[in-house]
Amino acid sequence: MSIYKSKHNYLDSFYSRNLKFLSISLWILLITNTALSQNPDTSTWFAPESAASIINPHQATLEDIKAGKKIFEKVCWNCHGTDGKGNGPSAVDIKTMPADLTSTKVQKQTDGAIFWKITNGRSDMSAYGELLSSKQRWLLVCYIRQFGNQQLIPSENEN
Ligand code: HEC
Repeated sequence: MSIYKSKHNYLDSFYSRNLKFLSISLWILLITNTALSQNPDTSTWFAPESAASIINPHQATLEDIKAGKKIFEKVCWNCHGTDGKGNGPSAVDIKTMPADLTSTKVQKQTDGAIFWKITNGRSDMSAYGELLSSKQRWLLVCYIRQFGNQQLIPSENEN
């Protein structure tokens, strides 16, 4: 009887030790998994070819650029910064760095690709397809283009 009891106790403690180990491992797995799933997608963000090849219906006239600038300075500047460099005041509150829209990485993309990204968003960047009209999104593209050509940005008093 006493042998059985001690064996039983041994088994009990064996299981409880292993259960403890198992539950700790499960917690670690859960925590790292949650942390990973909260991590932003840092892979290169590509627009599909079918979207990238769409031509901007706007000519990027001074009027278009001014109209795009107005929208940008209402909706986008808080993350991307008024100069588009990705250093707006809200940039510190989010997990992903807002893209530097003046960079060659962005500027080398087609108008269609930039339009598609504004439309669909990713991670901390909202999908503006439902928030802004297609015209507003194209005008934003016209304005973003000017970040690659600083001289063309209309100055404040030209607004
Ligand atoms: C809440 C912050 C936030 C706001 C507001 C925001 N963005 Fe972004 N934007 C981001 C972040 C973060 C990324 C990077 C997303 C990624 O790579 O996963 C990004 C990426 C982009 C890109 C893609 C750049 C690339 O790497 O190809 C474009 C274009 C862009 N934003 C334009 C805009 C425009 C236009 C607006 C306004 C309509 C806007 N964003 C508003 C945070 C923001």
